[in-house]
Amino acid sequence: MAFDEMYREVILDHYKNPRGHGVIEGADAEADGQNPLCGDEVSIYVQFGADNETIEDVKFRGRGCAISQAATSMLTEMVTGRKATAIAEMPRDELLEEVGIPLSPVRLKCALLGLGVLKVALHRAKGTPLPEEWAGMDELKLT
Ligand code: FES
Repeated sequence: MAFDEMYREVILDHYKNPRGHGVIEGADAEADGQNPLCGDEVSIYVQFGADNETIEDVKFRGRGCAISQAATSMLTEMVTGRKATAIAEMPRDELLEEVGIPLSPVRLKCALLGLGVLKVALHRAKGTPLPEEWAGMDELKLT
């Protein structure tokens, strides 16, 4: 099986069976974001552990294309158990490597929607910086 095909199957699996799907009531951190190019949305909820710094649980809900929903599903697996400060600094390439297939500029915004929303949630709750690599992502409406 070609590599691309394997990655596509993984993406499809995450899309059909999203990990970390749902809402955390009374979450320690949360944010919503939209990709206005298409209107797709992602909301992210974070619960910190006893140290108030480690991401103990993270859930998301949203609607959108397979890439945006699958990448956010992958993201929830990648960030669980890691510290908010580490995730604030997480380069987008770390997620893109996990997604694994080449993406057009439009699809890139789909893939990074969840990570952007998560960084905004952490920024609000913990004051972590929003790295300048998001400068080119202005079209994402992050509220
Ligand atoms: Fe909307 Fe992908 S087409 S996020």
